[in-house]
Amino acid sequence: MFRSHNCGALRISDVGNEVTLSGWVQISRDLGGLTFVDLRDRYGITQLVFNMDENEDLCSRARKLGREFVIQATGIVRERSNKNPNRATGEIEIEVKSLNVLNVSKTPPFTIEEESDGGDELRMQYRYLDLRRSPLQNNILFRSKLAIETRKYLDGQNFVEVETPVLIKTTPEGARDFVVPSRMNPGQFYALPQSPQTFKQILMVAGFDRYFQIVKCFRDEDLRADRQPEFTQIDCEMAFVTRDEILDTFEGLTKYLFKTIKGIELQDFPKMSYDEAMRRYGSDKPDVRFDMEFIDFASDMKGKGFGVFDNAEAIIGICAEGIAEKYSNKDLKNLTEWMQRPQIGAKGLVYIKYNEDGSIKSTIGKFYDDAFLKALGEKFGAKTGDIIFMLSGEEEKTRKQLNELRLEMGQRMGLIKEGDFKPLWVVDFPLLEWDEESERFHAMHHPFTSPKQEEIGRMLNGDHETMKSLKADAYDLVINGVEIGGGSIRIHDRDLQSKNFDLLGFSKEEAEKQFGFLLGAFEYGAPPHGGIAFGFDRLCAVLNGKNSIRDFIAFPKNNQGRDMMIDAPSDIHQEQLDELYLDTTYSKEEN
Ligand code: AMO
Repeated sequence: MFRSHNCGALRISDVGNEVTLSGWVQISRDLGGLTFVDLRDRYGITQLVFNMDENEDLCSRARKLGREFVIQATGIVRERSNKNPNRATGEIEIEVKSLNVLNVSKTPPFTIEEESDGGDELRMQYRYLDLRRSPLQNNILFRSKLAIETRKYLDGQNFVEVETPVLIKTTPEGARDFVVPSRMNPGQFYALPQSPQTFKQILMVAGFDRYFQIVKCFRDEDLRADRQPEFTQIDCEMAFVTRDEILDTFEGLTKYLFKTIKGIELQDFPKMSYDEAMRRYGSDKPDVRFDMEFIDFASDMKGKGFGVFDNAEAIIGICAEGIAEKYSNKDLKNLTEWMQRPQIGAKGLVYIKYNEDGSIKSTIGKFYDDAFLKALGEKFGAKTGDIIFMLSGEEEKTRKQLNELRLEMGQRMGLIKEGDFKPLWVVDFPLLEWDEESERFHAMHHPFTSPKQEEIGRMLNGDHETMKSLKADAYDLVINGVEIGGGSIRIHDRDLQSKNFDLLGFSKEEAEKQFGFLLGAFEYGAPPHGGIAFGFDRLCAVLNGKNSIRDFIAFPKNNQGRDMMIDAPSDIHQEQLDELYLDTTYSKEEN
């Protein structure tokens, strides 16, 4: 038997008992007559004590223990004289009687404690060591619990867990595919699924009624804190449902997870149309934990002789309350420069500062006198001590830029309360997006998304401009400004699906070649259906108030898409390349 207890189990009530523990040496401290060792495992840390007076040989062996040695120790539980209230086992220690070194360890390249001194890349290279640290270990345990509770809830709602294949062909979710060459089919490739979208629809045609899968998806796209090339979805599909039944089911799942895992009761989720979200927040994933909503200034500011505004498609702004005193001219200049960085690309930032002493300072004072600016402030609720920020220009761009400013000011002004969760459904997304560069429509969600029922007539008969304004039966779940999930009611009519492919610029042959199987299935009694997928990694991060999903994935990739531990991707042997009929003329040097 390696252990009678784990390293997090023993309490004051165990004093006097003989116990055996196994684990890793986190730290060893030699205080002359006594040597203390912190012994760690998944469950916690227990202090071991070795007494020189009692057993010299044992104590000198303990002194030789290095960090991360794996040991087994047997001894008697004792009450500690100086207790550690920050540790569950902090009231006791083990007076060790026998010690068994199970394995030695090299000195680890960084400290394996709550806070580590190792850089990102080093910790990813030694992921197994980083994963021993309690914050990461807790994240992975949290993830496991979230998956188990998700299964419980969905099982309780009659969902069937079905595995769909990984070697498939392209699924159009808007990213590039990862492809796998087929040895048995020379010159042909599988694509890894960007999502199981088409398979889950086929499962509805097959009559499974309610499907779910906690599933890996693969997307070759630029990486960010909330994006990994392989990530996990809670993927679901339902037949014979309305949009609201889907939203209710997954609002139910979200509430259940918050309640069982975090002990938090969420209120009912509000629904906001895409158009409204863009108008009020300039984003389809608004962070509604704070207000500072957009104000439309166009009708007030135009026609007063300020050329920049007179010629602008949009003049919009926000009112930052109570910051006039705190923001010096220099701060405002810095903020303007922050907005002008290429990542945001604003041409400038107009502000109207309503000083505490009643004076007004503004970048547009030359064109609008104080009386006008005062009245403007009153009209839109700006008080003394507030600053109005304004941006102008092309509508869509300006809204995006102002969204960045709003989020930044929300952070800087401390408007976001820790532990606050504000979910909402964003609904009625546009069906199609016009892409100027390729001169094509793209599906805003994916090509299987249905237009809203009342839009079908316009879709079948409308002109180009009509197509731009079509609304889809598509929805996103947004929590604290993060897109957690997205889904839609699907097209289940073959002709409508063909029409959609047509609008998206697929020729009949292309559509048939890529999606003939789905169109074919629609000819054999496809039920009305719809679904949703949650980003599982994002859900883990958001529930823990974190932006980055990396630390919720046991073995993530870095920003170059590399696994630093196994060093992948890597070269492969010439024989393997030949076997796969891959052209090997590519040279890294040339590229
Ligand atoms: P969508 O493309 O919106 O929908 O993806 C669903 C959710 O998956 C998460 N997600 C990601 N998470 C981490 N890294 C990524 N690279 C990444 N890409 C997406 C997001 C997103 O909301 N088949 C549809 C769903 C449906 O229509 O039912 C789909 O995949 O949280």
